[in-house]
Amino acid sequence: MLKGSKVGLRARHEDDIPILRTELYDDVVNSSRAEAGPWRPITPGSKDPRLVVDETTDRSVPFSVIELDGGTLIGSANLWGIDTHNRCAHIGLGLLPAARGKGYGTDVVATLCHYGFVVRGLHRLQIETLSDNTAMLRSAESNGFVREGVLRSSAWVMGAFLDEVLLGLLAEEWKPGAQGRTPV
Ligand SMILES: CC(C)(COP(=O)(O)OP(=O)(O)OC[C@H]1O[C@@H](n2cnc3c(N)ncnc32)[C@H](O)[C@@H]1OP(=O)(O)O)[C@@H](O)C(=O)NCCC(=O)NCCS
Repeated sequence: MLKGSKVGLRARHEDDIPILRTELYDDVVNSSRAEAGPWRPITPGSKDPRLVVDETTDRSVPFSVIELDGGTLIGSANLWGIDTHNRCAHIGLGLLPAARGKGYGTDVVATLCHYGFVVRGLHRLQIETLSDNTAMLRSAESNGFVREGVLRSSAWVMGAFLDEVLLGLLAEEWKPGAQGRTPV
């Protein structure tokens, strides 16, 4: 397990799946805002890759996020689009509603940076998020990500086109531990 200051990133457990499906992916507005495609219900028992780890691909590494203090499941995080030639990848995360606004998101980003830069030896990490997602933008910027551009009207979300912000962080810019204890 990877440990940040407040969160742990561990493997997906069978017991996590119904909680993540109900609290995260059944939420139409949250899913529509956080994902590139249209919301669709996930059938219990399905092998949807947002919930069930696809062992056949090495381009994506999904984690379940837990509170270090007590081990409660609080969300999902992912290093995806891993490109071992250009040594870059994307970061994605979603916390259960009760876990938001407590500093966990910032710590998840720090821990994913440790995984991407230290464990995987990547050179660049990237995040795309809606321009009004202040919590995600702040979680990224607190870890050193810089805004590299705005993708105008790039996301169709619940009846409107919204702008997305592209943020990037290079290995040589990253300051491990800037947000607390250095992840291990
Ligand atoms: C986005 C998300 C991961 C951020 O994690 P979080 O734990 O809520 O964020 P944090 O508590 O670490 O807060 C980070 C910063 O955002 C601010 N913030 C938190 N919630 C906020 C809100 N609802 N509105 C405005 N600012 C907010 C905090 O004050 C903090 O600011 P600071 O760094 O200046 O002190 C989480 O809110 C979430 O899962 N949201 C729903 C799914 C989602 O949007 N995923 C990202 C898709 S790209």
